Amino acid sequence: MTLIDSLPSDAALCAIIDSQMHLEGPLLPILHALQAAIGHVPEAALPLIAQRLNITRAEVHGVMTFYHDFRETPAGRHVVKICRAEACKAMGADQLADHARARLGVDWHGTTADGAVTLEPIYCLGLCACAPAVMVDGQGQNRLMGRVSPAAFDALLAEVAG
Ligand code: FES
Repeated sequence: MTLIDSLPSDAALCAIIDSQMHLEGPLLPILHALQAAIGHVPEAALPLIAQRLNITRAEVHGVMTFYHDFRETPAGRHVVKICRAEACKAMGADQLADHARARLGVDWHGTTADGAVTLEPIYCLGLCACAPAVMVDGQGQNRLMGRVSPAAFDALLAEVAG
């Protein structure tokens, strides 16, 4: 599925929603399908999902916000995820996160003003032996980096967003 440039119509949203309705427990597949198609789950989709599944909009919102990977707004051109789980914290992930937020001028889930980078936390990338770990982008373009110092983070940023 390709990313849709502008916000789709209700009919387009319903088509995406309906494509997942045959699945058992379709709510998560619907949210994934919307994000894959649009790059985020637009607010306008929530009442449509609720109506289709005969649940409340609050229930849809609750599930969406429980899973940190679902976005309410479009991400930047690159997504940088810093691991915040225990092994990385023990090896300086908090200091790296402070550096990243200051360097980018955004908080978690924020996107830089030029739209280049969205910063997100993640909880274990499976690279615990090489903490602190960072992942850039995703969905087929994942790039994992370990033992990321603030200087290495800056170099990574210059490479991906430069
Ligand atoms: S705790 Fe960070 S990669 Fe596992």
